[in-house]
Amino acid sequence: MATLKFTGSEEEKELPDGSPLVEICEEAGVPFACTEGVCGTCVIEVVEGSENLSPPTPEEYDFLGEPGCERLACQCKILRGKVTVRF
Ligand code: FES
Repeated sequence: MATLKFTGSEEEKELPDGSPLVEICEEAGVPFACTEGVCGTCVIEVVEGSENLSPPTPEEYDFLGEPGCERLACQCKILRGKVTVRF
């Protein structure tokens, strides 16, 4: 199981390794629109554990440029371990 935490919240969400982040981020209040990596509405900042996320998709490279701490939540999967994000 992997763990996702949002800054400013004590709550940690457990989800199976390999889960997309869309649903859990939407529940936490991250806004989504296209869910296809095109609009940039769902940008999140990865504070900790970026190595535990799936590699950036071509859509993320197009929108965000070189990988930094920002990701598009509609494109990410959590692969393992613990990840902390801010939005
Ligand atoms: S919802 Fe449009 S890029 Fe993620």
